[in-house]
Amino acid sequence: MIKRYSYSPFIDTGAVVTKVDITCGKPDFFSVSEDGVFSFVMDDKTRVYGLGEAVRGINKRGWIYESFCTDEPFHTEDKRSLYGAHNFIIIDGKERFGAFFDTPVRLTFDIGYTDSDIISIKPDKFCLDLYIITADTLKGIVGEFRAMIGRSYTPPLWAFGYGQSRWGYVNQDDIRAAANRYQEAGIPIDMIYLDIDYMEDFKDFTVSKERFPDLKGLSDEMGERGIRLIPIIDAAVKKQEGYSVYDEGHGKGYFCKDENGEDFVVGVWPGMSVLPDFFNDEVSRWFGMKYKALTDLGIQGFWNDMNEPALFYSEKELNNAFKEIKTYEGKTLGALTFFGAREVFTRLANSDKDYGSFYHNTPDGRFVHSDVHNMYGYMMTKSAHEALSELIPDNDFLLFSRASYIGAHRYGGIWTGDNHSWWAHILQSLQQMPALNMCGFMFVGSDIGGFNGSCTRDLLIRWLSFALFTPLMRNHSAVGTRSQEAYAFGDTEVFRHIIELRYRLLPYLYSSYIHAVDNNEMYFRPLAFDYEDDDVAAQVEDQLMVGDSLMIAPIYTQNADARHVYLPESMRQIRMSKGEISTEELNKGWHYVSVPLGDVVFFSKKPLPLAKPAMNTSELKLDDVEYVF
Ligand code: NOJ
Repeated sequence: MIKRYSYSPFIDTGAVVTKVDITCGKPDFFSVSEDGVFSFVMDDKTRVYGLGEAVRGINKRGWIYESFCTDEPFHTEDKRSLYGAHNFIIIDGKERFGAFFDTPVRLTFDIGYTDSDIISIKPDKFCLDLYIITADTLKGIVGEFRAMIGRSYTPPLWAFGYGQSRWGYVNQDDIRAAANRYQEAGIPIDMIYLDIDYMEDFKDFTVSKERFPDLKGLSDEMGERGIRLIPIIDAAVKKQEGYSVYDEGHGKGYFCKDENGEDFVVGVWPGMSVLPDFFNDEVSRWFGMKYKALTDLGIQGFWNDMNEPALFYSEKELNNAFKEIKTYEGKTLGALTFFGAREVFTRLANSDKDYGSFYHNTPDGRFVHSDVHNMYGYMMTKSAHEALSELIPDNDFLLFSRASYIGAHRYGGIWTGDNHSWWAHILQSLQQMPALNMCGFMFVGSDIGGFNGSCTRDLLIRWLSFALFTPLMRNHSAVGTRSQEAYAFGDTEVFRHIIELRYRLLPYLYSSYIHAVDNNEMYFRPLAFDYEDDDVAAQVEDQLMVGDSLMIAPIYTQNADARHVYLPESMRQIRMSKGEISTEELNKGWHYVSVPLGDVVFFSKKPLPLAKPAMNTSELKLDDVEYVF
């Protein structure tokens, strides 16, 4: 059952597609203070699930989180927000219910941080719809919530293949070289991603003539080899006269405005840039149709980036910073003054001051950005989805985004942004997956191998061994970092076997994904969701159920070649070692499972269909399977 309580919402976020009657008065379960703080008292056993992409464990209790889409390149435990605003939680204790706080403003979820027994949730402005969802089971709560927010995005089968990405493939020879190395090594691959390097001066919808002189030819050639090119699109548009996208958008008043009605100018990759006002339908359609410049070249997939929106600085505050820094000139800088001086520039990025200084013109009126901040990335994804649905027949396109709000799950997938080549980030990614599924985001994955920092052979092997189960399976890294392609560490066989296993598992993984989407179920589930009466299962933070009958328990620590695994019922252990599959029956309970580097071990409740190895999804035969058990 769902009850909706409405506290002066000033904009319909569009997150909810099934209308629910408004119930007035005090909400069930929460007490509400006059200034709009929702409180709930937890008992000792209460666990809290949800919050999508947020850092920390599957059980969110014990930390303070903020829903405020943020370009955050350090996903450390002390962070409160990453790129998405996923305001759905499930409280499971003496009472059990789900709560969705539908508001585009910043929201703070203090889940036993200030007071270890109290949940308190506070929006920056007391304007929101609260939905309270009750059902008999945890899965039932998710099912009701998901039915209310609408069907999750499903990309074509080829998007479930393996993809290689790198910021720093600077020209078409780099792309061709990556394709060659994969195919020479016999490692399956379906996609190569283009980062901002393909553009002319980082301008959206342009292609560098010098470095990518024939993108159509490259895309055709790759297509013949079973590989699709997936370019990035950034939210901000370079402010440059003579650049048609800027000229047109500026002429028509399509960019966000400052308080005087002038284009609000910010610094991002292209330097001084402007922000399309996606909240205006005309602008949304205009920007979306610009993807045609690339779909005309045969491109069928895109990743939308920097759409929190990320701001390195605003023109206005940068000018102020230059003035301020001058005041330090000639002074002897003690520690504090030196740190103050250093801060003058670092504090410019993604500042609340800037987010409070520009405006959107929406059908519901003019809004200061900070009042609708969490919806910006969502609106960009919607814009792209609607246009691509027209530009590409049969919805045969891939789309995913960095920033998101609940509702965007209908239009595209998301990736979890700029993680690091850290062991802890394998676990973090695992813990993010079920929480994202709760919020509707099903086509999800992290940068395999880690985006920032230097990847090692063993880290990549372990990361792939987990990520072969994630719907989005993409290896991506930052410019200047060590190469981490599956051929980058000398030997390729071990990588070939793991990625090959992904393809062999696709009959199960892909159909599990479709089944979960069709039935508002979660593809990834904490054990607690399947084994509600099992107190041990409820505590397990590093294993997941995948689809109806698989359980994974990846290795995520350096130099470990075994780990403890909890089996909530007896299952078959399935082991892939050097491409060979073997199985063994294991009983309910704890096991110490040996997983030498290169082996992939997981567990199944039912006979598992395995396809024949394939070099890409067009070669893959989903219905030609053998069953292992
Ligand atoms: C930030 C994105 O998160 C990252 O994936 C991308 O490589 C860089 N922007 C450069 O485009």
